[in-house]
Amino acid sequence: MTISGAASPTSAAIIDGKAVAARVTEQTRAFAARFRDQAGRAPGLAVVIVGEDPASKVYVASKGVAATECGFLSIQETLSAATSEDALEAVVKALNENQAVDGILVQLPLPDHIRAARIIAAIAPDKDVDGFHPLNVGRLGAGDLSDALVPCTPAGAMLLIESARGRDLSGLHAVVVGRSNIVGKPIAQLLLNANATVTIAHSRTADLAEVCRRADILVAAVGRPLMIKGDWIKPGATVIDVGINRVPAPERGEGKTRLVGDVDYAAARAVAGAITPVPGGVGPMTIAMLMANTLTAAHRRAHLPVPDWRVAP
Ligand code: GUN
Repeated sequence: MTISGAASPTSAAIIDGKAVAARVTEQTRAFAARFRDQAGRAPGLAVVIVGEDPASKVYVASKGVAATECGFLSIQETLSAATSEDALEAVVKALNENQAVDGILVQLPLPDHIRAARIIAAIAPDKDVDGFHPLNVGRLGAGDLSDALVPCTPAGAMLLIESARGRDLSGLHAVVVGRSNIVGKPIAQLLLNANATVTIAHSRTADLAEVCRRADILVAAVGRPLMIKGDWIKPGATVIDVGINRVPAPERGEGKTRLVGDVDYAAARAVAGAITPVPGGVGPMTIAMLMANTLTAAHRRAHLPVPDWRVAP
């Protein structure tokens, strides 16, 4: 059971991303143990970080911890902010050739003098566990999910949608607010692939509130704190809040902050059928799906059947 809290006309069920992420990680760990027996090696994940961005360092450390917890080989390449584009590309190419490595992630953002598009294009598509390489973008666009690696946050958000609405979204109208390459566009493709009728809206959409009110599934991925109001929500809708925004919280003391989503959670909860909290909703899914993608990449590269981590090994 992934939804907790009573669904009543006055309070949505809360979609517990931490619980779903823990289950995916548990399955990934079990399948990784089986992979080690079959392939004679652990799945390997390499994370590359360039520079000293504090948030990136925290994310990269969490990815390393999760990989180790899953029983993966975990490699971290830490490069100085002055690293040239050519030198970074050479690091990526060496990881492409390293047979112990199944997944490569180059942490973004990169320093201004490095073109992220060039670096992403240098990653071997079958090791692109971020799903950002143009070949994987194209595969997702073509609905070829058996060959694609799908970006982690959208893949995680889809699992949460599945937990609330099932895997077939036929007849349902999904509205995605946000058109980023990392979240908005890929989640729209995944929703379409699950047979939803999909609208992609964004900050320049006319009468955004009215568009949102037509959504059976509303995915908020704009990065604007509390932008989506309670009266933008269709009664009973599933609301997936991908936003993670740090805002001042003077009520907690001087200089304190707190995390909020793109949705006015308290107001939306009174109207929605099910809703993800921030934090504890989509956030925990991203790293879990990175591990699942690495497991998938390892099996494909070893010519083993890719496990369905929805079911126990
Ligand atoms: N920086 C913030 N989120 C991400 C992500 O999902 N992948 C990479 N590579 N960098 C990020």
